[in-house]
Amino acid sequence: MPIYDAFHRAITYLRVSITDRCNLRCRYCVPKEGIKKLPHEEILRYEEILRIVKIAAQMGFKKVRITGGEPLVRKNLVYLIEKIGKIEGIEKVCLTTNGVLLPEMAADLYKAGLRHINISLDTLNPEKYAYITRVNVFGRVLKGIKKAIEIGFNPVKINVVLMKGFNDDEIVDLAKLSLTMPLAVRFIEFMPLNHTQIVYENAFLSAEEAMQKLKKLGDLEEIPSSPLDGPAKRYKIKGSLGEIGFITALSNHFCHKCNRLRLTPDGQLRPCLFSDQEWDLKTPLRQGADDAKIRAIIEDAIAHKPKNHGYVKFATHRPMSRIGG
Ligand code: 5AD
Ligand code: SF4
Repeated sequence: MPIYDAFHRAITYLRVSITDRCNLRCRYCVPKEGIKKLPHEEILRYEEILRIVKIAAQMGFKKVRITGGEPLVRKNLVYLIEKIGKIEGIEKVCLTTNGVLLPEMAADLYKAGLRHINISLDTLNPEKYAYITRVNVFGRVLKGIKKAIEIGFNPVKINVVLMKGFNDDEIVDLAKLSLTMPLAVRFIEFMPLNHTQIVYENAFLSAEEAMQKLKKLGDLEEIPSSPLDGPAKRYKIKGSLGEIGFITALSNHFCHKCNRLRLTPDGQLRPCLFSDQEWDLKTPLRQGADDAKIRAIIEDAIAHKPKNHGYVKFATHRPMSRIGG
């Protein structure tokens, strides 16, 4: 039986950010000089993460997503993925990555049991890619995407952050990736989080506007979403191998079915992306707390999951690279 929060939502999805380190410096995520890194000893060890996931699985969690920073920069990720996949009750293990290290790592990740992969890609233009991420590695990411498909990951999802003046002229081309490749291209509304170098008010482009631009590709068929699905509204371009989706983070429309809890790299549970209220798991873990105590903290965090995030902009102090999107 899953655990329900105060608003009758079954909480079954744990997003685990395993590192705040990243090999890119996306302008919407970090300032030029970067963000101070967490000291190594503050970051949960794999054994600690595995213990938390095991307890969460006993509480009815079914889905785990590994995020970062960039999860592929952490050593022995393949080991973690394999172990999580074997935890009883966990039905779905997913990974969100920027794709830079995928060409060399995709095969090992697949062998470890990973099947669900989300890759961030905001543009199809190598120069624009180098501009937005401050690193010139577009070719690697494209290679990583192709490799992931070839190896058999399914689904492979592409996350595109919508930004006016940056990629609004590429929405049709990005959506078209789903015509010939079995990809889910998901357009994500730009979220007003701290540390961004992009002026939110200038760059915000709504999913609605993006969808208007896609009209020229013909009618979009709506795909109904299933229970372990995320918040994307899904569509299919007629005759396409893949699909497209829209994630409207700031509009509250999906809060009512939010099933997630987040674990930060330094062992804090966050019931809502947009709220800095956190429950400390690291200290009790390291002080030798038993499973019942850890479970009680997770239950308390769930009990305090807010109904919605109330449209508060720039409300979080924790940078995205320490939350995991
Ligand atoms: N708004 C929307 N998406 C963001 N991401 C990072 N920062 C933001 C933001 N301010 C995205 C990344 C990646 C995912 C982990 O979060 O591009 O796709
Ligand atoms: Fe790294 Fe993701 Fe932030 Fe880009 S958005 S700098 S890939 S953590």
